[in-house]
Amino acid sequence: MAPTTTKQWKLRQKPHGMPVLEGSEQTFELTTTTLNEPQDGEVLVQTVYLSNDPAQRSWISPSVDPDRAYLPPLQPGDTMRALGIGSVIESRDDKLEVGSLVVGRMGWSEYSVHPAQNLVMLDPPEGLRETHFLGGLGLPGLTAYYALKEIVELKKTDTIVVSAAAGAVGSMVVQIAKKVLGCGRVSSISYSHAPDAHDSDADFLQLIGIAGTEEKCRWVESLGADKCLNYKDSHFAENLAAETEDFADVYFACGMTSTYNDVVNQTGIKNLFEVVTMRLKMLGFINIDYLDHQKEVTDLLVREWSAGNLVLRDDNETIVDTVFEDIPKTWALLFTGGNTGKLLTRLVEANNT
Ligand SMILES: NC(=O)c1ccc[n+]([C@@H]2O[C@H](COP(=O)([O-])OP(=O)(O)OC[C@H]3O[C@@H](n4cnc5c(N)ncnc54)[C@H](OP(=O)(O)O)[C@@H]3O)[C@@H](O)[C@H]2O)c1
Repeated sequence: MAPTTTKQWKLRQKPHGMPVLEGSEQTFELTTTTLNEPQDGEVLVQTVYLSNDPAQRSWISPSVDPDRAYLPPLQPGDTMRALGIGSVIESRDDKLEVGSLVVGRMGWSEYSVHPAQNLVMLDPPEGLRETHFLGGLGLPGLTAYYALKEIVELKKTDTIVVSAAAGAVGSMVVQIAKKVLGCGRVSSISYSHAPDAHDSDADFLQLIGIAGTEEKCRWVESLGADKCLNYKDSHFAENLAAETEDFADVYFACGMTSTYNDVVNQTGIKNLFEVVTMRLKMLGFINIDYLDHQKEVTDLLVREWSAGNLVLRDDNETIVDTVFEDIPKTWALLFTGGNTGKLLTRLVEANNT
């Protein structure tokens, strides 16, 4: 029997600091909601994995001006917005059969009804876990690729410093910069923006990652970074200066996670005058502007993986088995550095944790 209700996590109140997970001030509340029956062209989906993204914090921030937001901010009472992978359990669509795995906006909801056209069916090649389509082959991969190509316009001789290099986006930035764009092993790529292949190994791009533990740093180096520095090391500033004696051409940070939970005392960049003195350019970027290219970039990255140029293994993901009631707790690991690579929630029954 198809379910007629679903558990959901809704926004209860917008947090000024770290989201509150328990008690009278809690940020989210667990509810049970009636499910609509799927109509023609719709499917009923059971959520299997949830994507955890720092951007979700910005959607529930009290300080975001809706007129300047890239997506409408959530309001109290709204179901928490989240991408996920689900399994079709009832279908009134010709193309999506029961049992199909799909990517879509599942939200923090156990079950949800979707027009089939809003979902992307998953059919991973052998050897690739489906979850990578929320990580390196999903929006984080698209973000990394397009930001490097269209915004940074990375050159193979650049020195690039990558922030949050052990995270979902950062670990793809490191790999794509170094192994797809930087070293020019691209002759097999038919994608129209791909750079010309080159035959010289000289003047390779230099890539310095930044991450929050020594272990993460060694992993980032295993992905291709020439060096990765721990920003929690007391010598970080001098270590970074030593690695970038001639300065860097690019500093890659497409978000500001350290400020997301600090609505009151927003810290952020203090030395902006150096943008003037160093004649720098700062450019913003939002991946949704490039969503039309998701499929071609995913296909390109799959080809690079097949050719051995990209690493997409189990250690590129942190998958946390989670009962529905603990979804906010797993998500909050993003803000304590609890993930290496993409942080994913796998929904399990209580006795399976
Ligand atoms: N512009 C776009 O289109 C776009 C698209 C996707 C993501 N983003 C942004 O890119 C950034 C990375 O996203 P992601 O999905 O790849 O997340 P992620 O890097 O996989 O996860 C967040 C990481 O941030 C670091 N962190 C957490 N709290 C911090 C703090 N207070 N100070 C410094 N570092 C902290 C932690 O790594 P450490 O342990 O290494 O500190 C943590 O693992 C986010 O800011 C996100 O908003 C932007």
